Amino acid sequence: MDGVTSIVVEPCDPLDGCVDIGGAKNSVLKLMAATLLSGSGHVHRLVNVPAIADVGTMAELLGSIGCDVTRPATEGVVELVRPEHLATDLSASAPSRLVSRIRASTALLGPLLAREGQVTLPAPGGDDFGRGARPISMHTDALETLGATWEFTDGPSGAVVHGEVPGGRLHGGDVRLPYPSVGATENVLMAAVLAAGRTTIINAAQEPEIADLAAMLNRMGAHILGAGSRVIEVTGVDALQPVKHAVVPDRIEAATYLAAVAVAGGEVRLRNADHRHLAVIIERLGDTGVRVAPDRGGVWVRAEPGRRQPTDLQTLPYPGLATDQLPLLVATLVTATGTSYVTENVQTGRFAYVEELRQMGASIEEHGHHLVVRGVDRLSGGQTVEATDIRAGAALVVAALGAGGPTRVEGAEHLERGYAGFVEQLRSIGADVAVLAP
Ligand code: EPU
Repeated sequence: MDGVTSIVVEPCDPLDGCVDIGGAKNSVLKLMAATLLSGSGHVHRLVNVPAIADVGTMAELLGSIGCDVTRPATEGVVELVRPEHLATDLSASAPSRLVSRIRASTALLGPLLAREGQVTLPAPGGDDFGRGARPISMHTDALETLGATWEFTDGPSGAVVHGEVPGGRLHGGDVRLPYPSVGATENVLMAAVLAAGRTTIINAAQEPEIADLAAMLNRMGAHILGAGSRVIEVTGVDALQPVKHAVVPDRIEAATYLAAVAVAGGEVRLRNADHRHLAVIIERLGDTGVRVAPDRGGVWVRAEPGRRQPTDLQTLPYPGLATDQLPLLVATLVTATGTSYVTENVQTGRFAYVEELRQMGASIEEHGHHLVVRGVDRLSGGQTVEATDIRAGAALVVAALGAGGPTRVEGAEHLERGYAGFVEQLRSIGADVAVLAP
């Protein structure tokens, strides 16, 4: 879907067939960053790497600080080798379009501090859900507990964060996060594995991507206990080794195809999806009449064609319902047989897609971080709507599968950031979707 700007979605018959779930975007970007923690010349091999634009952006970002990132011919494999010394000033080495393009650039804070003793980063970007820059104070405060000092300045092209480690090596400490931030937990983990002494992270994020990062770091020789729970213990080591690691399956990509079946009806198998990471969404879809079950190393989903029952939703840090899955579920509830009450607790400004769904005929009231979704018979066709971020775009395509006529989703290039072969996979299970080249 290179350079795509629009996807046209026609109404379709119930879906049928198999899709492949790739490695998680929100894990692989941090795994790539974590390879910086080992010695120079080590060859790290990541497998089950999704063919998505954010991986390319992260590879370019790592390349700009001196890392050698290659994709051998084997599909889904990326190899990374770091040099003796990395450049640490991303505001100088990396084109700002790279840093501003993905939020995961923040994941370089921990590794660069731990290995090089300093880091300079332009204010990070990624999806801001319409609210401007996303804060990183939880990252910087936590790393300060391990001995980093920070300076925030306003450069000619925006805010710049500069961190240093007086004495060169971070030390362990008790980090109590005010909120279980995914990115802050990851940064502390990556910093603590090479720090002198023991670190305890209290109120850590418990997402599967955290456990994946810790598993890879442990395979590199780190000593991490408790990743995936609220308290993580890290005992610092002096050096880490090269690693081969398979990226955890993407639970948000999986949720996208579950939602597509919920809207269009049908029976689809999601190869390589991990049902254990989908427990809440499986339960909520169950409320609406959609059946999901583990199946031969993946997940099976079945829904009768027609309208779903309403259900109430609220997002929470894992193991609660993921904020990234909410727009997809809302897309299934807009044609439910009653009213659903929805609360977004994690990314509270994340409702840009709601206006687009309304334009397609949905009846949704917005009250702060709550939505009241009154199911209508069918969304109208013939609309052009705008994807403002990856998940909003996916949700609009999913909603359009059940509309009364063709829908054009513009801004579809956002989808390339996080979905590999989205249009192709939807077509392979019978959806009538087409890409309009720019
Ligand atoms: N927050 C702060 N201060 C901080 C850090 C976070 O106020 O210092 C706030 C954020 O603004 C947000 C909330 O805390 O409102 C949660 O942020 P968190 O740090 O947990 O999220 P993140 O690490 O920035 C990752 C994913 C997001 C996903 C969230 C929550 C990556 C690259 N991004 O972001 O994924 O929504 O966790 O699960 O891992 C996506 O894939 O579409 C996406 C946006």
